[in-house]
Amino acid sequence: MFAVCGIALLCLVSLTHSAPLACNESLQPLDQLDHHQLEGSWVLVAAGLRDAAHLGHFKTRDSAVIKFASAGEASKMSFTRIFGFNDSCHYLHSNISLEGSSFSFEKINITVTFLYTSCPDCVVMRFDNESKEPLRVYLFSKRRDVEQKEMEEFGAQVACLNMLPPERMDPTKELCPENVTRGEEKAEGQKA
Ligand SMILES: *[C@@H]1O[C@H](CO)[C@@H](O)[C@H](O)[C@H]1NC(C)=O
Ligand SMILES: *[C@@H]1O[C@H](CO)[C@@H](O)[C@H](O)[C@H]1NC(C)=O
Ligand SMILES: *[C@@H]1O[C@H](CO)[C@@H](O)[C@H](O)[C@H]1NC(C)=O
Ligand SMILES: *[C@@H]1O[C@H](CO)[C@@H](O)[C@H](O)[C@H]1NC(C)=O
Ligand SMILES: *[C@@H]1O[C@H](CO)[C@@H](O)[C@H](O)[C@H]1NC(C)=O
Ligand SMILES: *[C@@H]1O[C@H](CO)[C@@H](O)[C@H](O)[C@H]1NC(C)=O
Repeated sequence: MFAVCGIALLCLVSLTHSAPLACNESLQPLDQLDHHQLEGSWVLVAAGLRDAAHLGHFKTRDSAVIKFASAGEASKMSFTRIFGFNDSCHYLHSNISLEGSSFSFEKINITVTFLYTSCPDCVVMRFDNESKEPLRVYLFSKRRDVEQKEMEEFGAQVACLNMLPPERMDPTKELCPENVTRGEEKAEGQKA
């Protein structure tokens, strides 16, 4: 009896240390979203994409930064995507509405859900189309790159969504300046 218990305990310990989370756990949306913690800029570290066509489009980008800012009302924020392409920078401004652990865009039918992450200065965001099909999942951080363990955790989430293995951004590429207003009010497009 004692021996069985000992083995079970050992299994439990080794599970919590090394086994990746089951998909239903690693794809859990965040319980609550702290808007203040969201505010500011986050750098794209890695992405999970559905297919080769999306990957091809994604690879044309050298860098991506997102920026959340409060917009008066508690449930509304402004959301800016800043992409670096081959020596040029593109700025895409959107208004978003937050609800629970998700937000939606004012003008496009995409819902973004914040997923669980153990990384203390990261956000993991899953983009779904209007049929709630996951289109892509992104790992953003305050850092340019993350620890191996954090990347593995994201890799497991990407695998759970049946996407291509994560595509890592090159952390040595220069980021676009954040405070340029050129390109403001550009129409929101599907090429998020
Ligand atoms: C995940 O699935 C396992 C086994 O089916 C279950 O015990 C666990 O409660 C589930 N977790 C969540 C968060 O749904
Ligand atoms: C990058 O920009 C340069 C100059 O603006 C241009 O000649 C070149 O074709 C571009 N490369 C790609 C891959 O778009
Ligand atoms: C966002 O909302 C503000 C104020 O409601 C508005 O002035 C601005 O044009 C909106 N921006 C976009 C990109 O829709
Ligand atoms: C979003 O979806 C709704 C309902 O399915 C539809 O009426 C609307 O035209 C769609 N909007 C866009 C911008 O595609
Ligand atoms: C959502 O994405 C799935 C998978 O790519 C696709 O089959 C479905 O048609 C899309 N739905 C809409 C409304 O675009
Ligand atoms: C951008 O502007 C914000 C305030 O609008 C300021 O806090 C921040 O330091 C600026 N960043 C850069 C890189 O200039």
